[in-house]
Amino acid sequence: MEIVVVESYRELSARAAAVVGDEIKKNRRPVLGLATGSTPEGMYAQLVRMFNDEEVDFSNVTTFNLDEYAGLHPEHPQSYHYYMRQHLFDHINIKKENIHIPQCYNQDVSEFCREYDRSVIAAGGVDLQILGIGGNGHIGFNEPGRYLNCLTHLTDLTEDTIKDNSRFFNSPDEVPRQAVTMGMGSIMHAAKILLLASGNSKARAIKHAVGGTITTDFPASLLQLHRDVTLLVDREAAALIEK
Ligand code: PGA
Repeated sequence: MEIVVVESYRELSARAAAVVGDEIKKNRRPVLGLATGSTPEGMYAQLVRMFNDEEVDFSNVTTFNLDEYAGLHPEHPQSYHYYMRQHLFDHINIKKENIHIPQCYNQDVSEFCREYDRSVIAAGGVDLQILGIGGNGHIGFNEPGRYLNCLTHLTDLTEDTIKDNSRFFNSPDEVPRQAVTMGMGSIMHAAKILLLASGNSKARAIKHAVGGTITTDFPASLLQLHRDVTLLVDREAAALIEK
């Protein structure tokens, strides 16, 4: 695992966008795995800027998002469909048919999940997977627990995650209790992984992800088994690994 520590969130965002830009430039048909949440917002802003400055062209890019809340309409402002349009897709030249985000509104979720995994394989697999990390070590919505599911699946959110994500909703009661997420197996199949973390609320999680016991109780620890992971963190998130 390569660890890159930067001085600020701004630098983290610019570096992450540069990695994505390089992948797009060197690959004729790049397949990106994308994450949502607060952390990658700055990276998406940089990618939009790079597109506007004609530094990067998304016309051959295919994307697969990690997860989506169950039961939220894609137009709901807290849905990840909405997030992706707002932060990236509405501002770049990606083809609609190349965008994939888990759908879990009014449909047969298990059939959808199988189809999602088939689509990733049909696209040739993910070349570069962007990840955030939950304070509880979750990746996507692969929550800590005794077991992990390899493939895309419907999952219950833990109380920690509901509490963390309630900041985006009017109250914790509004946070969906379930989500569809790509499984750790699918995520680990990506050729390269770029994990982003910013702020001291992530320091403990980063410490465990980098050097702790590998356990399903801390899904990010599994990334230690992947052969090409770069951890891009600011000083605050790196506080406990720099000591
Ligand atoms: P955040 O979420 O970027 O909003 O901190 C990360 C995550 O929960 O995976």
